[in-house]
Amino acid sequence: MKESTLADLTSTEDSSLSKLVSLLADLSTLVQQRIPKELGYSGGVNVYGEKQLEIDVWSNELFTKKLLRSGLVRRVASEEMEDVAESKSGEYSVVLDPLDGSSNLKSNNLLGTIVGVYHDKSLPAKGRDLLAAMYFLYGPFLQLVLALKDGVRLSAAAGTGVGSRRFVSDGQIHKLPRPPTVYGIGGLRDKWTPTVRQFVEGLEKRKLSLRYGGSFVGDYNQVLARGGFFAYPELIDAPQGKYRLQFESNPLAFITEKAGGRASMGTGNILDVEPTSIVQRVPTYLGDPDLVQDFQTLYRSKGQAA
Ligand code: F6P
Ligand code: MN
Repeated sequence: MKESTLADLTSTEDSSLSKLVSLLADLSTLVQQRIPKELGYSGGVNVYGEKQLEIDVWSNELFTKKLLRSGLVRRVASEEMEDVAESKSGEYSVVLDPLDGSSNLKSNNLLGTIVGVYHDKSLPAKGRDLLAAMYFLYGPFLQLVLALKDGVRLSAAAGTGVGSRRFVSDGQIHKLPRPPTVYGIGGLRDKWTPTVRQFVEGLEKRKLSLRYGGSFVGDYNQVLARGGFFAYPELIDAPQGKYRLQFESNPLAFITEKAGGRASMGTGNILDVEPTSIVQRVPTYLGDPDLVQDFQTLYRSKGQAA
């Protein structure tokens, strides 16, 4: 494989955006190293006097402080904070789920960090206005899935450099593989609506394999790698589902479209939602363009309350 570093891949972007990606790459490496320590594995290091924080809180503070102090980022909104945090200078606004899937820690299953980048927008913002979106996946290897205007690229923290020099990639634009082969749906089955149940029966008939691990980035990444459909749907007792529009659904919807897929809330495209608050949730259906279109057609034929 012909390798490039992430620094090479972002070198055609504005230098400030490429610096921002590099900073995020650095921080993701720190999160990955910190996870076992927060679980109590100190590796012989005396952590006396160091306040133990929940890893979600620790990650949030790490990302928020470093971003706001970088001179690059003016605003940060995070799933872990009620208000938008601001600095005095910087051209970017960043939305962040610092540690997605943290309930997976206990079982050492997949976790991730989701990031959306806007150029000088107030927050909350519309997904369509994203400049870039990415997630870091803390798995058997630390992976970065990065969507820029020209498409999605995959890279792994396998190099010896720091920041984005540590991440290496084949440099290829990644598209959702077709035909689709896997699917995952969140929420208690008992709370799925009849429309969602009917659609899932169809996926089973089409011999898609169920892959569900309980973290958005982990489950979504299976779809991105193998082709398929992922949803955290409307539920009978939660019509807006679970995912936050700003921190989860918009960035992954942006990545999906850049990878040739579709992103829907059943009624329409996630990226077109006019945000009303930073905590807003939306039902989220992502993946293979034909499957998402089929879901939307079924959803509309049944009417919203189906
Ligand atoms: O939003 C947090 C989260 O942990 C996601 O990463 C994951 O997809 C979802 O919740 C799992 O929820 P459930 O346990 O309801 O399927
Ligand atoms: Mn999350």
